[in-house]
Amino acid sequence: MVLSGETVLTGITTSGTPHIGNYVGAIRPSVVASEVVDAKFFFFLADYHSLIKNRDSAQMATSTLEIASSWLAAGLDPDRVVLYRQSDIPEILELTWLLTCLTSKGLMNRAHAYKAAVAANEASQGKDPEKGITMGLFCYPILMAADILMFNANKVPVGSDQKQHVEMVRDIAGSFNHQFGQTFVLPEPLISDNASTLLGLDGRKMSKSYGNTISLFTPEKNLRKSIMKIKTNSQEPGEPKDPESSSLFSIYRAFATGSETEAIRQRYVDGIGWGEMKECVFQCLNDHLKIAREEYNRLIAAPDYIEDVLRKGADKARAVSSPFMDQIRSNVGFKALS
Ligand code: TRP
Repeated sequence: MVLSGETVLTGITTSGTPHIGNYVGAIRPSVVASEVVDAKFFFFLADYHSLIKNRDSAQMATSTLEIASSWLAAGLDPDRVVLYRQSDIPEILELTWLLTCLTSKGLMNRAHAYKAAVAANEASQGKDPEKGITMGLFCYPILMAADILMFNANKVPVGSDQKQHVEMVRDIAGSFNHQFGQTFVLPEPLISDNASTLLGLDGRKMSKSYGNTISLFTPEKNLRKSIMKIKTNSQEPGEPKDPESSSLFSIYRAFATGSETEAIRQRYVDGIGWGEMKECVFQCLNDHLKIAREEYNRLIAAPDYIEDVLRKGADKARAVSSPFMDQIRSNVGFKALS
């Protein structure tokens, strides 16, 4: 939970078009929190993180536009929060180097994303376990540390896959404070609950890497098509069904009210047919997203406006990062000789 007076920071990697899992897990909760809590909010487009995997420069710009537009279409008020693009804040890279010099390689060896890449190489029986692994991927948690520590965030909303990274950030901040005196706040991860993890078209967790996503602001016709593609089992209408293992139910629940969800849960027990359930999911999502979709379409057609919002956000962010970076520099001993 976010408390009044806290500093909340989160980023979304600019790799691809947002899907409904991103919306439910990251975009919507960040918008809601910024409306109800009197805290400081820093939300950013993690384009330096995206560069680790993405070498397509046109796609980088498109994804930045799409993710910024999604946040705004979902109701984010750029006057209440600081919304910015990571690569507009040069202090983040400067801090990254200072933190890199204090981070033990052994800590990075233990990062899940790096270990998973090594494991995948070993499983494919290649000779080189480090094949295709860049220093960017290896040092990913240090860049994330700079993102968070630069703004002294104490709450960091992330998916459960990012929990370890935030714990590493605490370690890195602790080493720095120990070496150079109290400088950084130690952040805490805010992990979204299970109800906000959606299952995808194939029944696994909805994720871009599984290719099982439903695009957030896709036109109505495509939204219907995607929902009709969701895999179900072969149970017939009339047979009682299990809501908890059903992708359709997980998606419905994320958009419907509590009482609508309970009513559908009862209909599972009573044996709702899959075709009818798909229709319910489509209606519910479409009603929920229709107005935001129109706004999204207006925004992506207005890149000048989005650029302006991001520039203003960068100015607000740098008003914090620039003086703080002077302080950090001085703490490590980079200062004028006289
Ligand atoms: N690594 C995060 C993700 O893939 C994105 C991210 C980058 C981030 N820097 C961050 C999230 C700092 C929170 C705080 O989801």
